[in-house]
Amino acid sequence: MNKGISLTGIKPTGTPHIGNYFGAIKPAIKLTKDYDARYFIADYHALNSTKDPKKIKKMTYEVAATWLACGLEPDKALVYKQSQVAETFELSTILLAFTAKGLMNRAHAYKALVQKNSDLKRDIDDGVNMGLFTYPVLMAADILLFDSDVVPVGKDQAQHLEMTIDIAQSLNHIYNKDILTIPKPLIRKKTQNVTGLDGRKMSKSYNNTIPLFLPPKKLRKLIMKIVTNSQSIEEVKSPDDCNVFKLYKLFASEQQQEKLREKYLAGGMGWGHAKQELFEIMNETVEPMREKYNILIENKKYIDDILETGSNKAREIAAKKMEYIKKNLGF
Ligand code: ADP
Ligand code: TRP
Repeated sequence: MNKGISLTGIKPTGTPHIGNYFGAIKPAIKLTKDYDARYFIADYHALNSTKDPKKIKKMTYEVAATWLACGLEPDKALVYKQSQVAETFELSTILLAFTAKGLMNRAHAYKALVQKNSDLKRDIDDGVNMGLFTYPVLMAADILLFDSDVVPVGKDQAQHLEMTIDIAQSLNHIYNKDILTIPKPLIRKKTQNVTGLDGRKMSKSYNNTIPLFLPPKKLRKLIMKIVTNSQSIEEVKSPDDCNVFKLYKLFASEQQQEKLREKYLAGGMGWGHAKQELFEIMNETVEPMREKYNILIENKKYIDDILETGSNKAREIAAKKMEYIKKNLGF
């Protein structure tokens, strides 16, 4: 029996962080066992916000090295660059004709920018480029081109996935044929929304991230900056609404969580202590991956080769699907 297809992408817009790891990378790597996996660097998506070629290049290496350091095996899963699969942009143009403008008006990222402009009494279209406006269509093309069955992502992508499904269903309905495979988002409750340093969702756009592979000293310093309340050492503390504990839970076993929970509830534990525990468990967890990452990131040629091989294979798959789609649409 054919395996299902799993696909996900990460934009090279900043250094990968623990939200990316728990929301997308770790679940995606787990799926490589049972699925045909296709994981890519969403570099054309980054262009909407980043016009610095050096930054795009640097971040592309960082994202690729992160995938590999976290355990992605390039002979078991395709790793490629979106920009190298031109069929994506051909499909994206086709999908535009099946996408209601009203659907795009409702997209979170676009809506948030319009709202910000309106609050600041600016022209509502200020800083909105068409790439941002049509972002969900390009993402739909990424997904639909590869017949993806499951798409492991964090919760922030749920709306984009709904839009992908909407666009695909609309096309299939018009031609009365399952031309496009309807994907399923794979969003895990426990890790769908990793908290950032300031208590908001961790995101490169909020500048509140904990990069996955910081050197230990820098990692510790950053963890010490996690926002907590001003309770004194003696006071009993609530683990459940504490940013430090929320992050600790991602790394710790049930037993370890229970032990730290007891310390919160007993009083006599300061925030510095809780943060130190978080630092230790995170540092220990990422250490083997960080070692691999540090070697990989110095080995650009190796990464280039993997991305090139992966992109060539991805293009072969994409070309076949494009041919099929075009034939059905009368081209
Ligand atoms: P960012 O929001 O930092 O720009 P991306 O948009 O590149 O990150 O996200 C890449 C993947 O990581 C997506 O699947 C996204 O849902 C996931 N992700 C990002 N931030 C988080 C988070 N705080 N918690 C869980 N998953 C996240
Ligand atoms: N939009 C995703 C993000 O901001 C990145 C992305 C682009 C993606 N294309 C995708 C994720 C296809 C999953 C599938 O994080």
